[in-house]
Amino acid sequence: MSHLRLGVNIDHVATIRNARGGAYPDPIRAAIVAQEAGADGITAHLREDRRHIIDQDIAHLIGAIALPLNMEMAATEEMLAIALKHRPHAACIVPERREEVTTEGGLNAAGQHNHLQPLITRLKDAGIRVSLFIEPDPRQIEAALSLGAPVVEFHTGRYAHSEGEERAVELRRIADAAALAAKNGIEPHAGHGLTFDNVQPIAAIPQIAELNIGHFLIGEAIFEGLGPVVQRMRGLMDEARG
Ligand code: PXP
Repeated sequence: MSHLRLGVNIDHVATIRNARGGAYPDPIRAAIVAQEAGADGITAHLREDRRHIIDQDIAHLIGAIALPLNMEMAATEEMLAIALKHRPHAACIVPERREEVTTEGGLNAAGQHNHLQPLITRLKDAGIRVSLFIEPDPRQIEAALSLGAPVVEFHTGRYAHSEGEERAVELRRIADAAALAAKNGIEPHAGHGLTFDNVQPIAAIPQIAELNIGHFLIGEAIFEGLGPVVQRMRGLMDEARG
C-alpha cells in the first residue's frame, strides 16, 4: 500500500500566540519541529477573521519550510489573491462562517459550481494543487469531478464525534467515498477531529493518500512535546497502513 502522508496543521500554535498578541509560540518553529519529526506537509488555515494564522505566517512558512504547504482558504477573492501571491503547493477550499468555532461541515461543491469554477481554474493555472474539503458524499465527489479538482479532503468530523454503530456507518461512508473518488482519478485526503484513538480505521482506508491533523496534536504537545506527538501519530498511521 502506498505511503500515507501526514499533514500537520499548526493553526492552534497561532491561536495560543494570538491569545497574548505577541510573537510566541511561533507556528513556524512548530512547522520545523513537525518536519523533523516526520510530517510530510504543513497545513495552515488563513481564516477571514485571522483568528489564528495571519498573513505574515503564510509568507514566513513558504520561506522557512522544505515541506509542501497546504493553505486552507475560503472561496473568496481576497484569499485567492493571497494564494496567487504566495503560491503554496496546495490550496484546500473550505467553507467558512465567521461565527463558527471550527470548520463545521464540508463545502457544498455541488451547490456552488458557478462560484467555485473560476477560482479553481485560476489556482490551477498558477500551478497550485486544488483540494475541496467535502463531506464523504457521492454528490460532492461528482461536483469535484465536474469542477476539475484533482484532490478532495473528506471531513472526518462526524466520524470523530460519533460512537458505536453511528461511527461504523460514518467510516463506511468515508471508505466508499474514497473508493469512488480514486476510481474517478481524484486523490482522496481526510481530516478533522482525528486523534491517537480514532486515526487508525481512517488510515487503513487504502485509497486515502493524506491525513491533515491539527488540534489534537497541538493539545497533546503540551504534555509530550510536539516532536514525539507527531512521531507517535506517524507510527500509528504506518501501523494501520501496514
Ligand atoms: N482539514 C481541514 C480542511 C480543516 O479545516 C481542519 C481544521 O482546520 C483540519 C483538517 C484539521 O482538523 P483538526 O484540527 O480537528 O485536526
